[in-house]
Amino acid sequence: MAARFALLLLVTVGAALAALPDLGYPGWQCDASLYQKSKKVPTSAHSVRFSDIKVIGALGDSLTAANGAGAPKGDPLAVILQYRGLAFQCGGDSSLDEHVTVANVLKKFSPNLMGYSTGIGSANVWEVSKLNQAVPGAEAVDTITQARALVQIIQSHKEIDYKNDWKLVNIFIGANDMCAYCNDGENGAHSKAQWKQNVITAVQILKDNLPRTIVSMTGMFDMRMLRQIDHDKYFCDGLHTFECPCEKNKAFTNDLVSAACHRYMDAQLEIQNSGIFDTTDDFTFVVQPFFNGITIPPLKPDGEVNLDWFAPDCFHFSKLGHANVAKHLWNNIVQPVGSKNTIVNLSDPTIPLNCPDTKCPFFRTTKNSLDCSKYMTA
Ligand SMILES: *[C@@H]1O[C@H](CO)[C@@H](O)[C@H](O)[C@H]1NC(C)=O
Repeated sequence: MAARFALLLLVTVGAALAALPDLGYPGWQCDASLYQKSKKVPTSAHSVRFSDIKVIGALGDSLTAANGAGAPKGDPLAVILQYRGLAFQCGGDSSLDEHVTVANVLKKFSPNLMGYSTGIGSANVWEVSKLNQAVPGAEAVDTITQARALVQIIQSHKEIDYKNDWKLVNIFIGANDMCAYCNDGENGAHSKAQWKQNVITAVQILKDNLPRTIVSMTGMFDMRMLRQIDHDKYFCDGLHTFECPCEKNKAFTNDLVSAACHRYMDAQLEIQNSGIFDTTDDFTFVVQPFFNGITIPPLKPDGEVNLDWFAPDCFHFSKLGHANVAKHLWNNIVQPVGSKNTIVNLSDPTIPLNCPDTKCPFFRTTKNSLDCSKYMTA
């Protein structure tokens, strides 16, 4: 008995100690001019150099809180832990050399960047979470509460000059809405119209209260992909029934899932293209659509799903998954609106991390993508 216990302990400790695969980008170097701040702090959201960004924050659900990202293989219970320091949008653990996140890329341009998360903990633990206000289980309607919380923290924090500092707020939301969508479809609380209105309400709170802010919204993904991950994996199958009821609803076919996800994608573009968040010069809203066209999960060379990419529940992203997604999100950020990738190859870890364009060295917005020369500054 004792021996068996000891063996079990060894196996557990062994599993916990085996380093999880990760993806860093050592030695990343862009043109020297791109590391310089603007001569004067820009007043227009369309003239913001990456070195001008002082504050980073995020709104979202468990994918932004990075649930399970650092969970050892075979330990699905660790999916309850929020590994915010590893989160693709706002995590700041280690550095770009070891782990790609949008915050770790930005640190290269703006070494005093603040607001990124480190370590493990929930949104209300300031030392861990900082300005990542994502909450596991959140639907679009919940980003309204998160937006209010973010405003309150930014306006009251001594280290932030909220009127003058440029802020980047990343949003990724929609998976949990989709997990409930099958109940009432386009007639209910998760319809495209309602989802869109909830996003607008949240972003409007940011616009009304946070001058000098760029909102970067990660495009919705096609959740058809999820069903292929847990196919034949009984354990994950069972977990997903609990985590995402609509995923297990046979009447909600892959085509219906896909169509519903695409409605949310359309809503995001409508919000961006309507210009409702471009009515003042010091605020803007941009969609990063790299996920849109992906229908299959990342694969190994032998064609099997690459589970290194996912946390032990086969749903959340692992550390490697966060880094890979972050690379594609960053590459989308530096592409002009209108020519951003709407599909990427998640199976190819060798895709490079791109530099901003020296001819338009700004955070790309709808306006500077149309004509950058209007927004050129020294
Ligand atoms: C994606 O990348 C993998 C690995 O490099 C490659 O085998 C596959 O053909 C690529 N898929 C597409 C659609 O380019």
